[in-house]
Amino acid sequence: MSNYQVEPAARPQALTKEAIKALRNEQVQGMSRRTLIRRSIGGGVALWLLEVTAGSLGFLWPNLTGGFGGIVKIGTLSDIRLANSNLPIADGFPAYFPDARAYIVLIDTNRQQFVQGDDTTGDGHPLNVRALYQRCPHLGCRPNPCLKNFWFECPCHGSRYDRLGIKADGARFGPAPRGMDRFSASVKADGNLWLDTGKITLGPLPIALGQPGLIPPKSPTGCI
Ligand code: FES
Repeated sequence: MSNYQVEPAARPQALTKEAIKALRNEQVQGMSRRTLIRRSIGGGVALWLLEVTAGSLGFLWPNLTGGFGGIVKIGTLSDIRLANSNLPIADGFPAYFPDARAYIVLIDTNRQQFVQGDDTTGDGHPLNVRALYQRCPHLGCRPNPCLKNFWFECPCHGSRYDRLGIKADGARFGPAPRGMDRFSASVKADGNLWLDTGKITLGPLPIALGQPGLIPPKSPTGCI
């Protein structure tokens, strides 16, 4: 590991300029300090690059594969009803789609179809379907739709929303500051619904029970 050599006592040699030069030019045995430092730096840089690449791939993967964060195909209204045959989807009950982290709700139940078009606002009326982000605007839990009253109820702190994600105003309906957030959506000519889960519109301010814009619960009692 070193160029330095101790001379045997029998052959003493002064460390003259020439002797030091000769020692420097001598073939190094094993790995020199310079090579060790170079390899350590190279290894560190390679590890860093690997981590950056893996991190970027992990971040972009959902967008590349059509998962959450990208465009997600939901299907036609018939597909949704078929996949949720135990739920009253035709009556406007929300259907859950874990891949999109969304609830899909038919808005006007007198029209049993989605309407072709694009809706970047998330309102959904032009398409007759609204896609709600599953995340409660209070602290992020997932509200569940209740079959009894057709409202969403958040299991964490009790925020309540009508079936279209509008928050009922008043402390007794929970602490969420607004309605559930919505996704940009489009319905193609073949009737398939697609969501852009990278585009979220914040939900509107709460509406008092009895006021227009909030659908009253179907039952005075809920599921929680
Ligand atoms: Fe939903 Fe608190 S997280 S009410």
